[in-house]
Amino acid sequence: MTLTLTDVTLTYPDGDTRLTALDRVSLDVPAGTLTAVVGPSGSGKSSLLAVAATLVTPDQGRVVVAGTETAGLSRADQAALRRDRIGIVFQQPHLLPSLTAVEQLQVMAHLSHGSLRASRGRAMDLLDAVGLADRASRRPHQMSGGQRQRINIARALMNEPAVLLVDEPTSALDHVRGAAVLDLLLGLTRERSTATVMVTHDRAHLERVDGTVSMEDGRLSLPAPA
Ligand SMILES: Nc1ncnc2c1ncn2[C@@H]1O[C@H](COP(=O)(O)OP(=O)(O)OP(=O)(O)O)[C@@H](O)[C@H]1O
Ligand SMILES: [Mg+2]
Repeated sequence: MTLTLTDVTLTYPDGDTRLTALDRVSLDVPAGTLTAVVGPSGSGKSSLLAVAATLVTPDQGRVVVAGTETAGLSRADQAALRRDRIGIVFQQPHLLPSLTAVEQLQVMAHLSHGSLRASRGRAMDLLDAVGLADRASRRPHQMSGGQRQRINIARALMNEPAVLLVDEPTSALDHVRGAAVLDLLLGLTRERSTATVMVTHDRAHLERVDGTVSMEDGRLSLPAPA
């Protein structure tokens, strides 16, 4: 299962004209691989993720998520696709303050199929995968920024997504912790066969990812200049 964008153009209203955030962007991300997206601020990186996540409908082009053509779907079907097939890691974790780490993950399962009790095993397994099994009962204010980011990543994997979209996972972290988050994402991508796209400003670790693409003024080029 893959993520495929073909000739995607996205514009936003901008005064009397329109601003082109994505200009005929094509990208193919196979299952079990991680593609990094680099580029200057405002070049369209988050817009690319928003389109891939079906949060924004492009003006033109095709977005196919795990074999499903998204263009013809109703808003409700897009929401179901997001819930069941797409894991999204926003830059800000948006954790719920009153819930413990394990409950943050269980909420995701509850949204899609019900039983909180049945989801506990999977939530604990994922907390273990991100190295936080011993923090399962902590609430967000009792954890570090890096730990909250790892909870955020684990939560995105709770419903076994085919596609994992990650915006700037390492920007708030120092170099060593940034490398650890990238290792974690690479490992999870391989183990869980997700088609992963990761936006990053940190070029230091890019030689380890499966591919790097570069955004500039809404256009995507491959590979990124070193
Ligand atoms: N909702 C919106 N309405 C209008 N313009 C927008 C909207 N969202 C983004 N833009 C514009 O689209 C362009 C691309 O924005 P985008 O957020 O994709 O950039 P980015 O590469 O993620 O930048 P950064 O590295 O700063 O996060 C920018 O010029 C931005 O101002
Ligand atoms: Mg952005």
